Amino acid sequence: MRIPLERSGKVPLYAQIANFLRAAILSGKLPSQTRMPSARRLAGDLGISRMTVEAAYAALEAEGLVRREMGSGTFVMARRHSPASVRVNVPEIWPQWQHELVANCASWHEGAMVDAPAPLRAENAIAFGSGTGDARRFPLADFRTVMRSVLQRDGKEALEYGETCGYAPLRRTISELLSVHGLQAGADDVLVTSGSQQGLALVAQLLLRPGDSVVVERPTYAAALPLFRAMAARIVDVPVDREGMRVDLLDKALQRYHPRLIYTIPNFQNPTGVCMSAGRRRSVVALAERYGVAVLEDDFVGDLRYGGRAQPPLKALDRTGGIIYVSTFSKMLMPGVRVGFIHADGPVLELLAGLKRLTDLATSSALQRALHRYVSIGRYDAHLRRARRLYATRRDTMARALERYFPPGSEFDLAEGGLFLWVALPRGYVTSELLRPAWKAGVGFAPGEEFFVDRSSGDRFLRLNFAAVTPEEIERGIRNLGRVIAESSQ
Ligand SMILES: Cc1ncc(COP(=O)(O)O)c(C=O)c1O
Repeated sequence: MRIPLERSGKVPLYAQIANFLRAAILSGKLPSQTRMPSARRLAGDLGISRMTVEAAYAALEAEGLVRREMGSGTFVMARRHSPASVRVNVPEIWPQWQHELVANCASWHEGAMVDAPAPLRAENAIAFGSGTGDARRFPLADFRTVMRSVLQRDGKEALEYGETCGYAPLRRTISELLSVHGLQAGADDVLVTSGSQQGLALVAQLLLRPGDSVVVERPTYAAALPLFRAMAARIVDVPVDREGMRVDLLDKALQRYHPRLIYTIPNFQNPTGVCMSAGRRRSVVALAERYGVAVLEDDFVGDLRYGGRAQPPLKALDRTGGIIYVSTFSKMLMPGVRVGFIHADGPVLELLAGLKRLTDLATSSALQRALHRYVSIGRYDAHLRRARRLYATRRDTMARALERYFPPGSEFDLAEGGLFLWVALPRGYVTSELLRPAWKAGVGFAPGEEFFVDRSSGDRFLRLNFAAVTPEEIERGIRNLGRVIAESSQ
């Protein structure tokens, strides 16, 4: 195979190879199932090292474009979404560098979540696909009051740039909230971020270099996958069962891939709702220590527990500073406040703060002050108590509706907390194909494929949000969805 290489160019050789092959795969010149030349052969053809070709293949694998099979070679993967959409959307009028950008960013941009097209989005669609609590229950009046009182109290100071690491009184409040979970964090051990998504992005940017491996759960949070792909990382997925990440397989993955980072969501995992058992938590921490790998712990809904025993965060078991804990007020309160935070020990926290400064200087000072006041006058606790009661009832309502309206053989576990039920339909269903008819029937949901590196493993799954919808919507929505599923198999 001939690949034109600029040996003295700024773009590393492996990236030039990956770019060339990516364009060939996306354009269909290298069709699905094509066997790629072995790394040794391609390296020989191009007069470069085998490691360079390996790095290019690893980057393409992380993007889901090729699959490497031990002993049999590297194969082009089937494309689930038409790559044409990416190329066609760039009219000729734009400069060449924009065309190149679109091709180079296809791995993560294509994977970004899509909303229902406007004509299909029913006016009052039932939002089982939502990733948050019920917006109709956001404490609007309370928040208006605290915002007004903060602006009165702090005046223009509330509207200046604040500290990069966050409003000090809020960091203190966060450290008090963390102490309830057994985390010994001082205010200086906390970095406020613009949502936890920024926390995840900062950690990924700081730790990962192209070709590095990152372990994720299988399935995992859909927006974490394009994030790691954007870093050109190789994604290694380790299955989740009813106790959380399979630590026996994690051990093997750590031995084989020497990853730089393990990304885990131990509480009410997105999308499965699984809460990692105490034993697994200890094992993950011990394995990470043994192999010297950083852990990114994403605790996005930990305070929304409706049953079972609270488990300590991995960070509370961390003796060596190996764990970076990320959380958010988005799900427990409301996402538009855009306040999340990172708790970590050692120089990493200062480096993350430095990177944050480069990214957005600081999170909105006015909103942090309002949030601080909201929490410190006890409103947050009261809101959480109400939300837990409300969402627990909705979860049970959804479980009953699923039993009634979904096809026999459908499976789900009752999540002990969080926002989602993760449902497996009997074999043979492809939930992404049900999306359009469901939208037409006025119901949204998150198809399983979004949460898997290889997409097709998620075919028979769907993630349903029970918290964002009323019991009446649950009853009507699950009935409609059940009908859509039944009609699809006729
Ligand atoms: C598991 C998980 N982590 C992080 C986030 C990011 O949320 P935010 O940036 O609003 O805090 C989300 C949002 O859906 C999520 O589901």
